[in-house]
Amino acid sequence: MVMSATALVRPEPRPEIIAIDAYVPGRSRVAGVAKVHKLSSNESPLGPSPRAVEAYQACARELSLYPDGSARALREAIGRRFGLEPERILCGNGSDEILALLAHVFLRPGDEGLYSEHGFLEYPISIRAAGGTPVVAKETNRTASVDAMLAKVGPRTKIVYLANPNNPTGTYLPYSEVRRLHAGLPADCLLVIDAAYAEYVTRNDYAAAIELAASCENVVMTRTFSKIHGLAGLRIGWAYGPAHVADAINRVRLPFNLSGPAIAAGVASLEDAAHVEAAIEHNARWLPWLTEAIARLGIEVTPSVANFLLLEFGRNGVGGAEAADAYLSARGYILRSVAAYGLPQCLRLTVGSEEANRGVVEALADFARTGRG
Ligand SMILES: Cc1ncc(COP(=O)(O)O)c(C=O)c1O
Repeated sequence: MVMSATALVRPEPRPEIIAIDAYVPGRSRVAGVAKVHKLSSNESPLGPSPRAVEAYQACARELSLYPDGSARALREAIGRRFGLEPERILCGNGSDEILALLAHVFLRPGDEGLYSEHGFLEYPISIRAAGGTPVVAKETNRTASVDAMLAKVGPRTKIVYLANPNNPTGTYLPYSEVRRLHAGLPADCLLVIDAAYAEYVTRNDYAAAIELAASCENVVMTRTFSKIHGLAGLRIGWAYGPAHVADAINRVRLPFNLSGPAIAAGVASLEDAAHVEAAIEHNARWLPWLTEAIARLGIEVTPSVANFLLLEFGRNGVGGAEAADAYLSARGYILRSVAAYGLPQCLRLTVGSEEANRGVVEALADFARTGRG
């Protein structure tokens, strides 16, 4: 009796933590398939800059030392590259860390955090973990709708996340729409513009929103080295916003949130503009090629401005997403299931190497032909 009563008492996490479905990363392996093309996490097919690799390796001699907790060299390099004040730049263990810290710092229990219907899953996770309530605004044609978002804003809305371009849809809002969203928000609500894929966008009406983040007291822009810089494994993200936001986050972020090798590789990568340019060119060539080739198979493709495509299955006689996923995996092509984003009929495909792109289209054609896989 005594024993069972004792066994019931244990430390209990806050209930809102247990209500969270943990983020499930893209798969990287298939049992029994030796060679795979991982097209599930929007990583760069070009890999990192050789200069970044060299800088990373040079850090091997200094592994006994703590890194510079303020990541000064990286903030200064970002400042030089984008014309920004280093004091207002925050660096994070991936931009994920910054997205989460913003919710922790700016939401009180019961406050609301708003994002769009198929927005990045880290937003509701961060909002819930901070004790806030996630609020979702409907999208139009898989694109964030400023009107729908503004209609959901109330006195408790304290943070709004907008991924621009959005993951997993690949769609974007023109800068005029982003400014309209900002203009409609109360001054005490923080607008977080997550521009993880900004470098890939080649549209004239797009902007990553540096100017808004530079000039407004309630706008933060987040960026990452995980995509165009090909450094996802090192976990380097950054944000730019008003000084008061940087000050608040700096009080609670872990003191050494970026490792020394991450800081060094990030600085070196910024100095290799040609490598970034090559990644942009690669994407500009293969994104439209994949879009057209896949659409011709009867698979619906959402027009994307990023380095990935959202494919919809189960139409025009083509089998469903689950069957496609299994079929492609068995052929060594790992795509991303996006059922957790409310898109169970879709898979997300990262633009890969030429070999991967040609191969995945062939595999998709075979799948479409059989109708089931
Ligand atoms: C929209 C968006 N934001 C942020 C991230 C997080 O990037 P990281 O934490 O690697 O900087 C991702 C990664 O997939 C993303 O798709």
